[in-house]
Amino acid sequence: MADGPVAELLLRRLGEEDGGGLDSLGLASALGLDHQQVVGAVKSLQALGEVIEAEQLSSKRWELTAEGKETAEEGSHEARVFHSLPAQGLPQNELMKLPFGKVGFSKAMSNKWIHLDKNADGGPRVFRSVQNVKDSVREKLQLVHQGRAESLDEKEKSEMKKRKLLAEVNVKTYLIRKGNAFSTTVTKQETDLTQEMIASFTEMPTNNFIESSFWNFDALFQPQQHPARDQHDTFFLLDPAEATEFPMDYLGRVKKVHSEGGYGSQGYKYDWTIKEATKNLLRTHTTAVSARMLYQLAQQEAFTPVKYFSIDRVFRNETLDATHLAEFHQIEGVVADYGLTLGDLMGTLKEFFTKLGITKLRFKPAYNPYTEPSMEVFSYHEGLKKWVEVGNSGMFRPEMLLPMGLPAGVSVIAWGLSLERPTMIKYGINNIRELVGHRVNLQMVYDSPICLLDS
Ligand code: PHE
Repeated sequence: MADGPVAELLLRRLGEEDGGGLDSLGLASALGLDHQQVVGAVKSLQALGEVIEAEQLSSKRWELTAEGKETAEEGSHEARVFHSLPAQGLPQNELMKLPFGKVGFSKAMSNKWIHLDKNADGGPRVFRSVQNVKDSVREKLQLVHQGRAESLDEKEKSEMKKRKLLAEVNVKTYLIRKGNAFSTTVTKQETDLTQEMIASFTEMPTNNFIESSFWNFDALFQPQQHPARDQHDTFFLLDPAEATEFPMDYLGRVKKVHSEGGYGSQGYKYDWTIKEATKNLLRTHTTAVSARMLYQLAQQEAFTPVKYFSIDRVFRNETLDATHLAEFHQIEGVVADYGLTLGDLMGTLKEFFTKLGITKLRFKPAYNPYTEPSMEVFSYHEGLKKWVEVGNSGMFRPEMLLPMGLPAGVSVIAWGLSLERPTMIKYGINNIRELVGHRVNLQMVYDSPICLLDS
């Protein structure tokens, strides 16, 4: 069931209602829940696509203030004054020391519940004037607390507002209706990661942020004069500025495919230099690691199909804005086997995002030097009201795979997805800086549950 018991209850109620829709506030009080819990369920259901439709409304509502809550629980100040008076009365100065003394005294006096004997022995003394009192202030507040503010008249409400026991607040509520894909049972989201799920993929070793241009670009058939290699897009390292160790045979084949072609390709026909390939940089994508892994795979005696994944940090020298940071995280995936097609790639990505609760997906033809065909993946961000790029993907080119030594019939589908953008979409975050970097509200980190895997 989707996102826990509240979403489940909400769907069941929605299944029973006749088409007018449900109001989130009314639903909260019918279910005996806090309004925020219902709002949370609405948001998680919205993230599933078209299961529900939710229209945001703004309405005014009477709420107890903190003091109002205390009064609803413990009684009004005047009633508490009344109840703290024993039969022999209490010195006025002692009564005034009680936290509810001052206000309670004057209200109880004007209600004629108590009286003051100014000439008592030992100073002014306060006595009860009646046997019992009816604490109607408390009763009215309890009504408001039960969501029945409408049973009080305007004068009563404004009196209690003056006493700061009640406040009129604006609340954002939702009118919830069945969506086009309504169902009272929705597929469980993959929030419970199991060891098996992870064990069916090999995690790539992505613990080196520094990479050589060779693995980040050259191995990926990215020509040396490609604009992405420019300082504007890539952070190069000053120290150590150059990498020294490469598999030289393979490097020779990479040089050849760039400059002269081969494997049925005419190459780029330019002077490939090792000087450019040795330049160290902060990796611009985790596809650098995919290249290393595929090269290693090709060194095995016999090819075996593989699935690789990684989630780690990459760096780009970008202009920062609401959806761009100079460092972010990529979810990289690679599947190598005989006979894989673009359909396998699209199906895998669709399935992946659906399990995250993201269903509005679009694929757009794109260009990468290392994949053909290539597709960018877009997802609709309700908050930003636009399609946002969440990843890039494709089938690795023969010019990349064959110099590594992989068998000719093997296809490799691969993708590099943003970790942050889908997260923004799923949780309705409009600025990436709220999620990564120094502006992150640490409370969010403390409040978020951690994920533990049973072994
Ligand atoms: N490396 C690409 C990027 O950073 C993503 C990608 C990975 C594309 C694998 C195709 C294949 O955008």
